[in-house]
Amino acid sequence: MHILILGGGGREHAIAWKLSSSKYCDRIFVAPGNAGTAQIAENVPISPVSFADVADLCREQSIDVVIPGSEDALVAGIVDELPRATGLQQIQIVGPSRNAARLEGSKAFAKTFMQRYGIPTASYRVFQRQEIEAGKAYLRNHPMPVVLKADGLAAGKGVLICHDPDEAVAHLEAMLLHEKFGEASRRVVVEQYLVGVEVSVFLFTDGQHYVVLPEAKDYKRAGEGDTGLNTGGMGAVSPVPFVDADFMKKVEERIIRPTLQGMQQEGCPYQGFLFLGLMAVNGDPYVIEYNCRLGDPETEAILPRIRSDIMEMLLLARQGRLQQVQLTVSEQQALTLVLASAGYPGTYRKGLPIRLPTSVPEGCFLFHAGTARQEGSIVTAGGRVLAITSLGKDLQAAKEKSLKLAGEVDFEGKYFRRDIGWEFL
Ligand code: AMP
Ligand code: GLY
Repeated sequence: MHILILGGGGREHAIAWKLSSSKYCDRIFVAPGNAGTAQIAENVPISPVSFADVADLCREQSIDVVIPGSEDALVAGIVDELPRATGLQQIQIVGPSRNAARLEGSKAFAKTFMQRYGIPTASYRVFQRQEIEAGKAYLRNHPMPVVLKADGLAAGKGVLICHDPDEAVAHLEAMLLHEKFGEASRRVVVEQYLVGVEVSVFLFTDGQHYVVLPEAKDYKRAGEGDTGLNTGGMGAVSPVPFVDADFMKKVEERIIRPTLQGMQQEGCPYQGFLFLGLMAVNGDPYVIEYNCRLGDPETEAILPRIRSDIMEMLLLARQGRLQQVQLTVSEQQALTLVLASAGYPGTYRKGLPIRLPTSVPEGCFLFHAGTARQEGSIVTAGGRVLAITSLGKDLQAAKEKSLKLAGEVDFEGKYFRRDIGWEFL
């Protein structure tokens, strides 16, 4: 089969690496890819959201399966649009339809959906521009902290946690009246602040049946001790020590099954990967957010633990046989470090040469994120440059291996968090 992966980050490199050992995959294309995917697949310099270009590529290279890595193409409706293009009626696109992707694309939709189906989540209200006065009054009476969320996609920046009412009111005005996050903040979800431990749970579903993938915990803040600005994610661990069978049973009963049944009832059954961003509050799971794709860098932590061929899972789903899938997952602990460019998540330089280790030890994985090839050498091309994952008998062992390998990578301004997994060590 010919596979096309859309995206060019660490997640897409990890997916390409995983599929490169599948007996079902003959050729793998990545658009646009990075210097790492170029070593194991064929990069094509097109944008995942240029559907006409994607369609041309699918025809030219006889693509059988398309795997969008990030949410943008899915929220824009690639699953609805691509099969309408000439010659592509049979193509399989791994992900939800445009309507089902609203679980991520509209936080207001996700919240009202959860309310309709009794799925545990923080209490909330949604406000639009003309309701600004009601919103301000609501904030003045709301316990602090309070969470403001832009309704639409805001590149991971649309969530604000406010500690005093004046600050919250100012942000609400900026979002609703001055389009602080553009179109995305024309509606704002105001949400109760939940205190607990976060965990990311992933599943793959055909709309009815599902396979739970290994869970992970992501470290979003730029600085050690969970300080500094929010990033796309600076590291991850998998498994997450507090997640046990009892917790996962609650997640399945209270969240996964009602979500899949609810989406069927809404007339838009959810297919593809689903990422549940959860808060465990006194041992009970609450949904912080849904994402319609895998996480980055969580994917770099979970895929090295999965022993099964995930391409087989995708193909069985297509045949309506997902119930037959039994994943084999390594008991080993994975710990991922992201090596970032100085300045990230703000502005940073690109095009700096990267020195990579001459070899990567057994049980370690070096995934490229923001890298590119320039005149025969590899240079930085993004804020998150590389993701290093190690498997070990425990977190400490995995951490030592990842730190050692991180020390062998060199580029100007390289920074990373040395405390990934801190609360479990
Ligand atoms: P998101 O962009 O939706 O992933 O949110 C960014 C981060 O904000 C999450 O990872 C949480 O750490 C935090 N967050 C979002 N919603 C809440 C909430 N209701 N209570 C506490 N923290 C939250
Ligand atoms: N690491 C969080 C995300 O992928 O959204």
